[in-house]
Amino acid sequence: MKFVLAFSFSLAMLFASASQADAAAGQSTYAAKGCIGCHGAGGVSVASANPSLKGRDAAFIRQTLTDFRSGARKNPVMNAMAAGLNDADINNIADYIDSLK
Ligand code: HEC
Repeated sequence: MKFVLAFSFSLAMLFASASQADAAAGQSTYAAKGCIGCHGAGGVSVASANPSLKGRDAAFIRQTLTDFRSGARKNPVMNAMAAGLNDADINNIADYIDSLK
């Protein structure tokens, strides 16, 4: 039992540190791909035309970006922005936005 608890704890720590690393990578991608220009530093937009992303969870961001990339959700700007993201970029950005909550 002790072993199982210790094992689950280490697994939890492993996942926590993996998603922290993803969030750090996502923060760089968010700046490098220009998302920050419209959605703002820390996901808080200063222009009403662009939605703030802070407060959204990872699943929402992942789904939305995947839909923009495939064209399932249509917006000329975001379809073009999402076309430049690979799966790792999307996951990292999703973890970064989630970490802002
Ligand atoms: C030129 C401005 C601009 C840039 C750059 C931009 N976006 Fe957007 N983004 C928008 C606009 C405008 C919308 C609203 C689109 C709509 O109404 O469907 C949006 C919507 C979104 C949404 C959905 C938000 C919601 O509440 O439904 C996400 C997620 C998102 N953008 C992420 C990103 C990411 C990640 C990047 C960088 C790769 C990025 N955006 C770059 C303007 C921009």
